[in-house]
Amino acid sequence: MKIVTHPSIKSYFDADESRREIELAFSRGLSYAGHSLMVPEKYSYQVLPHYNDRYALFNQGDTYELISNVCLHRQAKLLEGQGRTRNIVCKLHCWGYDNTGQLKGTPHFKDAPNGQLKKEALSLWNGLLFRGRAPNVDLSSLGLDEYLDFTDCFYAGSETTEYQFNWKTFVEIYLENYHVYSMHPGLRQFVKTDDLEWSFGEDFSIQKVGLGHELTKRTTDNYRTFQDALIARYGKSLPRYGAIWCFLYPNIMIEWYPDIIVVSTIYPKGVGACVNHVEFYYPKALHNEMPDYFAAEKEAYIETAVEDEEACLLLEKGRRALYLSGEEEHGPIEPFLEAGVAHFYDWLSKSE
Ligand code: FES
Ligand SMILES: [Fe+2]
Repeated sequence: MKIVTHPSIKSYFDADESRREIELAFSRGLSYAGHSLMVPEKYSYQVLPHYNDRYALFNQGDTYELISNVCLHRQAKLLEGQGRTRNIVCKLHCWGYDNTGQLKGTPHFKDAPNGQLKKEALSLWNGLLFRGRAPNVDLSSLGLDEYLDFTDCFYAGSETTEYQFNWKTFVEIYLENYHVYSMHPGLRQFVKTDDLEWSFGEDFSIQKVGLGHELTKRTTDNYRTFQDALIARYGKSLPRYGAIWCFLYPNIMIEWYPDIIVVSTIYPKGVGACVNHVEFYYPKALHNEMPDYFAAEKEAYIETAVEDEEACLLLEKGRRALYLSGEEEHGPIEPFLEAGVAHFYDWLSKSE
């Protein structure tokens, strides 16, 4: 069995060790900025909650940019939420900027100061925008192009959830299918857990999980409603997969479920907490036609997310007990069902 370099127990609880690990992993890995569908037209903007509203994403016509959302005068917050504008005007003393962040107006200042809000060009990859490099993931050779296809989709909003455990714990649970049997009474019927195909690249892994074979069998209420809606939509020609989970290191998840794509990013908040921003993308025409189908799918998704939180908290509690007694312990990794965990730990250990 391949030797896996586990992160130390200390790295989950010690603030300094965690900070070093986060700095290395996040400087080396990919950096998701937002999605082009958040800003569908020229001059559309979206203030980005995953950057604590520090930046707004702007559609500049041919390009997409992050523009600082903090006024150059007394550092007030400039924009809220989303909208469309060619002029950014600070509410506090009315300094005005154009859509590229160039300072244009400074009322009452005799010697008008020059200024430019910090801005950054972004790399576009399959609709997603990245700071720095784009992912080196060939969607068609991985058989993903027909699934991760945002054509005719719209951004349907995002949900933010804070968790009280180390960010790596979330990643670990995401990258193994072993717990699906025990922790997910609904999901384990919806997908066929061992009908699992893995693909790996240097800094990503992909899990394609087959659709369950007995969708009419007893399940949880949320999955019952969703599976009934799925069967009503597809009849006998059901989709091949129930879920596709792509994880781009260190923190970006692109997920496909029948008819929807979800992009989520997990951010550390110190050593013992993290926050997940989950964005939903739906095909426009189909969503208009059958909103209940999408609502049911989202409820099933949330049910699974709540169970994953419970799984993460179990890991956090056990490891905390070890940490407090100064012990280091790691168990074996099941080579198939937990393959993604080993791959991620290897990548993470190379940061050092
Ligand atoms: S803080 Fe923005 S104009 Fe004063
Ligand atoms: Fe899970």
